[in-house]
Amino acid sequence: MTVIPIRTDSRSYEVRIGAGLLDTLGRAVCACTRAARCVLVSGENVWRLYGERAEQSLRGAGLEVFPVVFPPGEDTKSLARYGELLECMASCRLTRSDCAVALGGGVTGDLTGFAAATYQRGIDYIQVPTTLLAAVDSSVGGKTAVNLPEGKNQVGAFWQPELVLCDTDTLRTLPERELRAGMAEVIKYAVLGDPELFEKLRRREISEEEIIETCVRMKAEIVGEDETDQGKRRLLNLGHSFGHAVENRSGYRLLHGEAVAIGMAMICRAAAHLGCLSPEEAAAVVGLLQAYGLPTESPWPPEELEDAMLLDKKFASGKLSLIVPERIGACRIVPTAASELKGWLEAGYERSV
Ligand SMILES: NC(=O)c1ccc[n+]([C@@H]2O[C@H](COP(=O)([O-])OP(=O)(O)OC[C@H]3O[C@@H](n4cnc5c(N)ncnc54)[C@H](O)[C@@H]3O)[C@@H](O)[C@H]2O)c1
Repeated sequence: MTVIPIRTDSRSYEVRIGAGLLDTLGRAVCACTRAARCVLVSGENVWRLYGERAEQSLRGAGLEVFPVVFPPGEDTKSLARYGELLECMASCRLTRSDCAVALGGGVTGDLTGFAAATYQRGIDYIQVPTTLLAAVDSSVGGKTAVNLPEGKNQVGAFWQPELVLCDTDTLRTLPERELRAGMAEVIKYAVLGDPELFEKLRRREISEEEIIETCVRMKAEIVGEDETDQGKRRLLNLGHSFGHAVENRSGYRLLHGEAVAIGMAMICRAAAHLGCLSPEEAAAVVGLLQAYGLPTESPWPPEELEDAMLLDKKFASGKLSLIVPERIGACRIVPTAASELKGWLEAGYERSV
């Protein structure tokens, strides 16, 4: 087992990564919370595969467990499901010392985290990520949210978990498409700050556990310096500004990771076109995304994405922070006015790299 400490201003906790950790869930929850009861939140697919084991482990440690199972998919990250979850918590008579356990991917984690952040002004929660994307990214760092029809993650809170328990065995059942989508976030970390990871991915000389560990360490460092997205943490949005627009425009038919891959390819092309990144490196990023089976072209033209981007909650004082690669392993935050977006988007469509 690998243990990575996360230290933020609001809370310190561990990310545990290893095979077979699901059976240690109950003991781990009892060790890091004062809970007597918990809601165990999951999606239908994950519940079928791992629900019983998780529940047994929690009960075995003496906890009273209330399973809450939602349909799988992004639609579950809604105000309606959030309300349902809060009502379940209340009807199970969860108190402020009880907790919530999120067993699943980013959708389950974001929804459960937000409910935990707001139920009785905040209760403990534990992340048990079962997708690659959740393992390398969404389960760590305390960003929780649900979507509005107008856009992704429009309602949320920063609320750190008490523990992240990543049982790498659970990734064995992940559908191929989901695994590929998770690789988009992994490639994001490599472009952001780790040329060695980029090279290992290119040569396919890296194990899944090393991938997760490397990404979580990088996230731990960034979140430790900037818990609430005021500065450095914005770098983690590489590919997300265009990506969220693509995801929204697709009506969530594209997976989050697929949309991020398109967004990353677009920002690399734009950076190359505008002279910030060499065309060779832009081509290398696009090539790596494609090598991992990810899409790199937006089916929607710049003007359609521009409309979706203007809703981005990251617009502050009329500017959006675009994350622009300068080389593989180094990116820069570029404050961009709404009027400049079109130019970036159009440059992102240039097929010259
Ligand atoms: N909070 C953050 O910092 C952050 C960061 C990145 C992404 N996100 C959010 O994460 C969400 C995407 O998360 P995701 O990619 O994990 O998708 P997801 O949660 O929708 O899970 C993907 C699919 O895989 C299935 N699944 C999950 N684990 C499985 C397993 N072990 N075996 C078989 N099937 C399994 C699920 O049922 C679902 O159908 C988006 O809403 C995105 O906005 C949040």
